[in-house]
Amino acid sequence: MLSRREIIKLSMLAGTSFSLTASLLHAASTQTLITRKVPKTGESLPVIGLGTSATFRRIAGGEDVSQLKNVIKTLLDNGGTVFDTAPSYSESERVAGKIVQTMGAADRVFWATKLNVVPRGELKANPDKARQQLDNSFQYIGKKTIDLVQVHNLRDIPTQMSLLKAYKDAGRIRYIGTTSTNHSRFSDLATVMRNEPIDFIGVNYAVDDRKAAEEIFPIALDRGIGVLVYLPFGRSRLWKRIGQQKVPEWAVEIGIQSWGQFFLKFVVAHPAVTVVTPATSKPKHMLDNIGAAYGELPDIAMQKRMIEFIDALPST
Ligand SMILES: NC(=O)c1ccc[n+]([C@@H]2O[C@H](COP(=O)([O-])OP(=O)(O)OC[C@H]3O[C@@H](n4cnc5c(N)ncnc54)[C@H](OP(=O)(O)O)[C@@H]3O)[C@@H](O)[C@H]2O)c1
Repeated sequence: MLSRREIIKLSMLAGTSFSLTASLLHAASTQTLITRKVPKTGESLPVIGLGTSATFRRIAGGEDVSQLKNVIKTLLDNGGTVFDTAPSYSESERVAGKIVQTMGAADRVFWATKLNVVPRGELKANPDKARQQLDNSFQYIGKKTIDLVQVHNLRDIPTQMSLLKAYKDAGRIRYIGTTSTNHSRFSDLATVMRNEPIDFIGVNYAVDDRKAAEEIFPIALDRGIGVLVYLPFGRSRLWKRIGQQKVPEWAVEIGIQSWGQFFLKFVVAHPAVTVVTPATSKPKHMLDNIGAAYGELPDIAMQKRMIEFIDALPST
């Protein structure tokens, strides 16, 4: 738990608004961080993490990455640990790995990365190239064991998952899985979940994108597979949908301070969800997002109300 001084310092660094600062201060001093257990092992993980595509990736590719250092520091200083990246997110993995190692924080991060060397328009992965990509991830991340590696977007599961299984058996990777954020591939994702000994999946789920709850989460609960949620804001989609509206009073009453927390608390409320990894390039947004890991979560009635509210907005 953070001290009052630490939170004020962090808030100044993040440039957060007074109301958010005050609410985080209150939350951190009176409430504990919400965690979920990894189904296969019982290991506890904080429910809010950090993703690295989109805006994070853009800054990682530039010259000044100090802003990303503050994003990562904000995650770690507030009890977050899970960091989701991929070799295909341009410089994200390399830059974040360097930042975390320079901070001396490699062992405080639960690193989730991905594997995919199937060229665009092709179907097969070259095993040597796949090993090389994994070697690069080990080098960038700077840990002897990577916490989680998932086959990115279900590409060449036979070749790439076999490799991940071998690395897991050798003790080099703790958890393995696969990802998809494409509704048309959910039946393929379900097949892998039923047939492969995976620990995690990564999938899209948001208050206005609920297909995973129907088709994927029941299998995850049944087979004890952890769920990382991607696209909790649908990138820019939900931000456009809410426009300039204020968070409704009935949501504020359960401690939801911002739209970011509204969207994230909705996602975290599903019992199949282990961790959600919103991406951000801004410390103040990281602070906002990790705030969703404190306090109350919406019950079923409140989740229904949240859905109705968002569904009534014009789609983008
Ligand atoms: N197939 C796959 O494996 C796959 C596919 C998609 C995503 N992912 C993973 O999931 C992560 C999340 O997905 P995503 O990055 O595509 O989309 P996202 O998390 O739904 O949305 C990110 C966007 O929301 C903004 N944002 C974040 N927090 C905010 C806040 N509190 N207030 C206002 N705006 C906020 C960010 O801008 P700012 O920088 O301005 O905050 C960014 O534009 C990815 O980074 C990646 O790690 C995996």
